Amino acid sequence: MRPASLLLLLLASLLIHFHHHHHRAHADCEPATCGNLTVRYPFWLGGGGSNQSSSLCGHPAFEVLCSDDGSSAASLKGSTLQVRSINYTNSSFIASDTRTTAGNGGVCRAHLNMSATVSPSAFTISRRNRALCFFYNCNGTKPSQRGYVNATSNCSTPIFAYLAGSYNWDSPPAIATGQCSFTYTPVFGSEPEAMTAANYSRLLNDGFVMEWAATSVGDCSGCTASGGQCRYNSATAALACLCPDGNLQRSTCAANGEFQ
Ligand SMILES: *[C@@H]1O[C@H](CO)[C@@H](O)[C@H](O)[C@H]1NC(C)=O
Ligand SMILES: *[C@@H]1O[C@H](CO)[C@@H](O)[C@H](O)[C@H]1NC(C)=O
Ligand SMILES: *[C@@H]1O[C@H](CO)[C@@H](O)[C@H](O)[C@H]1NC(C)=O
Ligand SMILES: *[C@@H]1O[C@H](CO)[C@@H](O)[C@H](O)[C@H]1NC(C)=O
Ligand SMILES: *[C@@H]1O[C@H](CO)[C@@H](O)[C@H](O)[C@H]1NC(C)=O
Ligand SMILES: *[C@@H]1O[C@H](CO)[C@@H](O)[C@H](O)[C@H]1NC(C)=O
Ligand SMILES: *[C@@H]1O[C@H](CO)[C@@H](O)[C@H](O)[C@H]1NC(C)=O
Ligand SMILES: *[C@@H]1O[C@H](CO)[C@@H](O)[C@H](O)[C@H]1NC(C)=O
Ligand SMILES: *[C@@H]1O[C@H](CO)[C@@H](O)[C@H](O)[C@H]1NC(C)=O
Repeated sequence: MRPASLLLLLLASLLIHFHHHHHRAHADCEPATCGNLTVRYPFWLGGGGSNQSSSLCGHPAFEVLCSDDGSSAASLKGSTLQVRSINYTNSSFIASDTRTTAGNGGVCRAHLNMSATVSPSAFTISRRNRALCFFYNCNGTKPSQRGYVNATSNCSTPIFAYLAGSYNWDSPPAIATGQCSFTYTPVFGSEPEAMTAANYSRLLNDGFVMEWAATSVGDCSGCTASGGQCRYNSATAALACLCPDGNLQRSTCAANGEFQ
């Protein structure tokens, strides 16, 4: 019967297409590496040249570009932030700002407003950071309180540093400012002994902790635990779980194949 065989042909080609598509999607979003960094959902490696350079591998705000100059530095697209390490378990990563880590003179630019650096919608600067304060435009004065150190080094204008308590985006640390203007930048420090204002340069280099809201990117571990792979569905602006049967589910792959 001709209609039946046509139908069969159609089904077969659909299946082949489906299988092919599924297979390719699988390879496309395998975890990628950039230097020491393992990049996977909600992060994804953009910029082409990798198997992950598809916007369906991760959340748009989490696009990471890997430098091809041999340094394998990973930067967060559209920002001056480098991603130094990622902890997928607690939804956090260590970031550093290239403007203040860029070798000589980095600290001279430390009065940059860090708050303006970060896309506030996707990430928050953790309150587990401390606020490293920089004082400038001191109008010929210098802060004389304990704990204020001279951070002028090579800069053309005097700068002083002070390490305050917990970093809070919304409220500047309540500290003596004298006649100076001041800014504050988050620092985390790789070891407790290094947490001193005098180590400002190193603290800037070590970076700070950023967090993302697990709810805003979806429950990827729930998806993978059910045998699926995490994808980003731009139509729903949410996680999609790619299941072994090739179907996209909303959160997990159900054993009975029903939409979750
Ligand atoms: C990778 O890790 C090693 C050892 O921790 C470190 O020395 C190196 O700087 C890291 N490389 C990058 C690109 O972060
Ligand atoms: C892409 O994936 C294929 C197969 O999984 C692998 O052989 C290839 O090395 C990958 N390419 C890159 C650039 O990661
Ligand atoms: C990630 O965070 C979890 C929870 O705080 C912690 O147990 C784990 O050791 C961290 N992983 C790394 C690689 O630091
Ligand atoms: C999350 O992971 C980072 C990096 O491994 C770690 O430094 C930090 O202590 C962890 N945060 C919490 C709240 O456990
Ligand atoms: C000061 O500038 C000189 C020349 O640019 C440079 O060699 C030196 O490392 C700088 N010192 C500091 C502490 O940045
Ligand atoms: C820093 O940037 C934030 C966000 O753009 C802004 O609200 C704040 O007023 C700025 N602070 C300074 C001191 O410029
Ligand atoms: C701070 O250090 C710079 C150079 O390192 C020096 O020229 C300046 O006099 C110092 N300022 C104070 C107030 O000690
Ligand atoms: C700088 O000092 C002069 C003289 O003491 C004073 O008139 C002026 O208001 C000060 N400027 C600031 C910004 O504190
Ligand atoms: C900087 O940190 C190191 C620990 O890595 C510490 O031994 C040193 O005393 C610190 N330097 C200053 C000036 O605080």
